[in-house]
Amino acid sequence: MRNKIVAGNWKMNTTVKEGVKLAKEVEALVAKVNNAAKVIVCTPFTHLTEVAKVINKVALGAENCASETSGAYTGEVSASMVVSTGAKYVILGHSERRAYYNETDEILNKKVKLALANNLLPIFCIGETLDQREAEKHFEVVKTQLEKGVFDLSAADFSKLVIAYEPVWAIGTGRTANGQQIEEIHTFLRDVIAEKYGKTVAEECSILYGGSCNAANAKEIFSTPNVDGGLIGGASLKADSFLAIVEAV
Ligand code: 13P
Repeated sequence: MRNKIVAGNWKMNTTVKEGVKLAKEVEALVAKVNNAAKVIVCTPFTHLTEVAKVINKVALGAENCASETSGAYTGEVSASMVVSTGAKYVILGHSERRAYYNETDEILNKKVKLALANNLLPIFCIGETLDQREAEKHFEVVKTQLEKGVFDLSAADFSKLVIAYEPVWAIGTGRTANGQQIEEIHTFLRDVIAEKYGKTVAEECSILYGGSCNAANAKEIFSTPNVDGGLIGGASLKADSFLAIVEAV
């Protein structure tokens, strides 16, 4: 049985103090819920070490890591540094990094491999823009993102990934993809993974939905076939709304 996962992506929000407070609240609420879902908070680099101290049931992730191992890369944070904070996961391929920081499939492929080499588990994001959706290119776009980003991994390495489908037009817009749109893409993704790695690997892969998921719509989204949880932005910044999403999975 594949894991149900709810991961919060805090993005560039909260100070360290605010982040620690939020993490404590999330930990306390999640500890009370009898829920088999894996709960992850992905925080800014600056917060990781401090947040690691106040969570136990909740797992820790970073929002990025470098595409190089170490050395003269001013301002970068390597996968081994991320792991040394206690983080187990790293978000890679988020559309904001692809769009604003020019992270190409090739760069992301290097990041994924470095993360795995350091026992850091990637939450690998894919998703189409509104233009691509309107041009009916969304299936092709997400397939290419998988092929170029992660399909040269061994089956054993691919099995360590979490995939997150995040349509760019649904992120932070209050506009979610509808049930049919989510179901057809998630089913397509599982089929594409099955073609490449076989049915067993595909069946065990957790595929999350992200994009304006909140306490009110989470239950419906998570009941969609082939959706194994969510990657949550805005609604992960308040412990009670994040908890409501965790309870919905
Ligand atoms: P929102 O939930 O704020 O739309 O963000 C989704 C997201 O980008 C998670 O990675």
